[in-house]
Amino acid sequence: MDRKKINWGIIGCANIAKDRFIPALQQTDNSKLYAIAGRSPEKLASFAVAFHPQVTYGSYEELLADPQVDAVYVPLPNTLHMEWSIRAMEAGKHVLCEKPLGMNAAQVSRMIDTACAHKVRLAEAFSYLHGGAVQKAHEIIDSGVLGRIKHIDVRYAFDGIRENDIRLNKTAGGGVIYDLGCYCISFIQDIYKEEPVDVHTVFGVGKQSFVDENAMVSMTFPEGKTARFYAAFDSFTDSERTIVGEKGVLSIPIRYHEYGNMSVRLTDAEGRHEIKVLCENHFIDEIREFADCILTGKETRPTLQASLMNARTLDRVLGYK
Ligand SMILES: NC(=O)c1ccc[n+]([C@@H]2O[C@H](COP(=O)([O-])OP(=O)(O)OC[C@H]3O[C@@H](n4cnc5c(N)ncnc54)[C@H](OP(=O)(O)O)[C@@H]3O)[C@@H](O)[C@H]2O)c1
Repeated sequence: MDRKKINWGIIGCANIAKDRFIPALQQTDNSKLYAIAGRSPEKLASFAVAFHPQVTYGSYEELLADPQVDAVYVPLPNTLHMEWSIRAMEAGKHVLCEKPLGMNAAQVSRMIDTACAHKVRLAEAFSYLHGGAVQKAHEIIDSGVLGRIKHIDVRYAFDGIRENDIRLNKTAGGGVIYDLGCYCISFIQDIYKEEPVDVHTVFGVGKQSFVDENAMVSMTFPEGKTARFYAAFDSFTDSERTIVGEKGVLSIPIRYHEYGNMSVRLTDAEGRHEIKVLCENHFIDEIREFADCILTGKETRPTLQASLMNARTLDRVLGYK
């Protein structure tokens, strides 16, 4: 591709597109908001007024038929990720699809096969992986100061569910495991780089929604390593990640979308140390890096192997395997 900017098409006037993705896209130097497609004329008009795309389409099909669209962002309900990502890739578009990439590992495998067959880039939109907190955690782990990692503990709660939220809708792929649990699994596997040998899940199912609204999951990894996570829609909004090693403990009391001058805490034989970390808008880094992967051919983050590993673990957490 000889163009320096990627033309993006957004399918669906989703909240995440309005609140995070499009404002971030408009701050990158290698991407341009080219098109938005939405089924509701009112919502589409309000997106057009707010973001000034070059074109709008009343159907996702029309956007995919536009040869000017290079890359498509898929912020649809979870149950529609596979269908529309595959349709976009079959139309020759690169795809950045919201998390979780598919509803299960079989869907993710089909998506990866389509990306390979059509020679396009596909990535799961785990923007937090591009953020300062995760980068700092890897820097500290790689320095060896924690020693061998023995245990990882993740807590991720969000109590801001809206009325008619797709996260409480079973047929849209709702539930806290799909919504927040996938982050916990991604974080744990991004550190261990392997899958659990054993998984146990305790669900709390909503009396009205019938989806999992809280869950506690414990996992055993090879060589006796362990991990545990708690994900909830019905607990106070907060998040903390703790990595326990033989020689030290790293605590990251930073929410997934928290920006600014933050700090993590390292505890070792010498005592407790506050380590400063700058957390900037990781959606900007995610979009810039995905566009760069298209322009240069380098590998996406997360890799598709990592996304498949996450999906296989999701299957086991949800009891499908
Ligand atoms: N990365 C993150 O930080 C983050 C945060 C929140 C959510 N997410 C992910 O982003 C995706 C969207 O979440 P959201 O909260 O933004 O959802 P949302 O506001 O409900 O948006 C979903 C959009 O999908 C389109 N859609 C197509 N068919 C639909 C159907 N049958 N039912 C409902 N909507 C349909 C709608 O757009 P039109 O009507 O305009 O076509 C709708 O606006 C989910 O996969 C979620 O996991 C990611």
